[in-house]
Amino acid sequence: MPVKRGLEDVIAAESSICKVDGNKGRLIYRGYDIDDLAEHSTFEEVVYLLWFGRLPDKAELEKLHKELGANRRIPEEVVKMMKQWPKEAVPMEVLRTATSMLSMYDADSHENDRDANVRKATRLTAQLPTIVAYWDCIRSNRELVDPKPDHSTAASFLHLLHSGKEPDEVSVKSLDVALILHAEHELNASTFAARVAAATLTDMHSAVTAAIGTLKGPLHGGANQEVIKMLLEIGELSKVDSYIKKMFEDHKKLMGFGHRVYKVQDPRAFHLRKMSDKLGRGAGETKWYEMSARIEELAKEEKGLNCNVDFYSASVYYMLGIPRDLFTPIFAISRMSGWAAHILEQLEDNRLIRPEGEYVGKTDLKYVAIEQR
Ligand code: CMC
Repeated sequence: MPVKRGLEDVIAAESSICKVDGNKGRLIYRGYDIDDLAEHSTFEEVVYLLWFGRLPDKAELEKLHKELGANRRIPEEVVKMMKQWPKEAVPMEVLRTATSMLSMYDADSHENDRDANVRKATRLTAQLPTIVAYWDCIRSNRELVDPKPDHSTAASFLHLLHSGKEPDEVSVKSLDVALILHAEHELNASTFAARVAAATLTDMHSAVTAAIGTLKGPLHGGANQEVIKMLLEIGELSKVDSYIKKMFEDHKKLMGFGHRVYKVQDPRAFHLRKMSDKLGRGAGETKWYEMSARIEELAKEEKGLNCNVDFYSASVYYMLGIPRDLFTPIFAISRMSGWAAHILEQLEDNRLIRPEGEYVGKTDLKYVAIEQR
């Protein structure tokens, strides 16, 4: 078998959770097109869909809402520990470490059956947004307020982030759609990391911690932070062309563009582009959208590159007033649902994931004592 660099085109698992059609630019969660879900669904409904394989009825959705609402608090010990961490710590490091710590306070930490794992997935989906929002408050010396049990995931995150200020409807709706769009994407790097970990029969917190560490990388979830950094550096529409052309001349990668699977436009970008435009017009500040749209045109013309989910999510989050280094943690808050779906699926029919490497080193060396080397 030839070695496939980066495992490109290798099929590593059968899954009924998500289909990414890279040629047609379609993304399907459990049979439903992402366009349909972004238009009509909510993040909580999508969570249920991913974990249980079908859309919930009213009672089932209500139950999930209640369980998420009841589990948003994080243990006092974790909050205490977070208060001791350096204020300049990267939020993804904080999220990774606090998530790992949560396992020591989880009532099901030593159970690995499906029911216990669904309970753990519910708690983690409820707790991750609290960790991210609390961290921003802790590092900026803002008040930590209690989560409200009736809030949705999006509303709770914004409420905690802004120390108890009730979020407006447009912001909640925009974030909710962004969470739907980021929830699941088949065997992307972090999900694969989660499945590899879960397949050893380790616990869900360990698998999610591995996934968070993987998502942090700039070639994966970290790209959205780099996009806003670039937009802020460019500063205005008139400077876009020269900046981007210089990047291409210098053979630099344009963050938020390109994709391993999509050969056409990433379907998630369509919704985020619309949202970025709408939020900009609503706020009377259209320059971030206009700059992004021009970069998109140039990337297509000059390099044939399409933008991915990370490109317009950057201007969307920026206009929602979210600090730049929380962009990737928001991706994690959402992708938690997809990671959990894959961990549950992996454990249904588990086999250790252990590929082979093609050894290209020497095989006939003889040990030489250290004095003679
Ligand atoms: N800017 C400039 N050139 C690019 C880009 C880009 N963003 N993406 C791909 N290319 C070029 C690349 O230079 C290479 O050209 P050549 O064959 O001449 O060397 C060719 O396209 C193939 O690129 P690759 O990096 O080998 O492709 P890959 O499938 O290994 O990587 C990718 C996919 C997403 C890592 C890559 O497109 C990239 O680094 N993009 C920027 C980072 C980014 O936006 N990441 C978010 C991905 S989507 C959300 C997620 O999954 O987290």
